[in-house]
Amino acid sequence: MHASERKGGKAAITAVGGYVPEERLTNQDLEQMVATTDEWIRSRTGIESRRILKDPEKATSYLAIKAAENLIEKNQIDPLTIDMVLVATITPDLHVASTAPYVASQINAQNAFAFDLQAACSGFLYGLSVAAGKIAAGHYKKILVIGADKMSSIIDYSDRTTCIIFGDGAGAVLLEPSTNGMGWEDEYLRSNGMGRDLLHLKGGGSLHPASQQTLEDGWHALYQDGKSVFKHAVSEMATASEILLERNGLHQKDIDFLVPHQANQRIIEATAKKMDLPMEKVLCNIADYGNTTAATIPLLLHDFECNFKKGDKLVLTAFGGGFTWGAALLTWAYN
Ligand code: COA
Repeated sequence: MHASERKGGKAAITAVGGYVPEERLTNQDLEQMVATTDEWIRSRTGIESRRILKDPEKATSYLAIKAAENLIEKNQIDPLTIDMVLVATITPDLHVASTAPYVASQINAQNAFAFDLQAACSGFLYGLSVAAGKIAAGHYKKILVIGADKMSSIIDYSDRTTCIIFGDGAGAVLLEPSTNGMGWEDEYLRSNGMGRDLLHLKGGGSLHPASQQTLEDGWHALYQDGKSVFKHAVSEMATASEILLERNGLHQKDIDFLVPHQANQRIIEATAKKMDLPMEKVLCNIADYGNTTAATIPLLLHDFECNFKKGDKLVLTAFGGGFTWGAALLTWAYN
């Protein structure tokens, strides 16, 4: 639904935060672990290093809490005023209980209700959509949306086709009712369950409960058919973004920044090319972080916050497991 059709008003991002662990896993490190080279990884993915949360005692909640604390401290938010905390992740601390209530308690958001959302690399975008809808409906005034993933906990570091891509990190945004007419404008979200054969983690769910066999078969690590995922990602992110622009009467030249999910530099460049957007308008930090799944888009917003001006038009777009994908159009609401 277009924002102008909603009765409760428009939601706006009013603050951002982020966190990545100190420890780096470089391409040179990976050369010692699997049959790969720095040159192959750089040329095929654009990635130079990733951040890894090494401490086995620390999980996704640690990353999420750090990102939320960064946002809260930077903007002097009283956590008791937060109404809802949503954590988008595919690497929850536990299957049950969900991660968000723990995060909310740890940041002292005692008046919030909290839940997780699982839509893989599109999780943060889906989460923003849910939160923007809650604000538009007039139910809540301050919603924290966090994208966080400790991808290193589900990667097989002997599988060179996946271990080179993923890293750990978290990003957070605060959504509030817009006070200046700027904010969430429109969204186009889709999914296709046929994609689950091409990108999944099979073991430990209700279809294949954890067993000696699932362990032996390596079903507790992420599997992807990289080539197929690559093609779908480019096509769907570009199409979703173009549909949004067209139905809002905008052209490529009206967009100030494309904020694409960071899966592969070649996917990002091919998407921009398909959309006829110059790379100066396309935000990238994949070289330093790799693919942090639900965290890529909020980490971009965190890293490039200083570049945004009030009134800038941003298109956020993501593609991920499920398949899930989509795009959102928003007007940046603050300087
Ligand atoms: N180092 C060296 N060689 C590698 C390698 C590595 N790390 N990984 C794969 N190769 C080899 C393959 O075995 C293959 O060898 P072969 O031709 O002898 O069979 C060759 O490189 C080409 O493999 P291919 O899979 O065609 O490479 P690619 O250019 O498609 O790149 C990915 C692989 C995974 C980087 C790429 O497909 C990708 O990024 N896909 C999208 C992933 C994604 O977005 N996932 C998250 C969901 S959003």
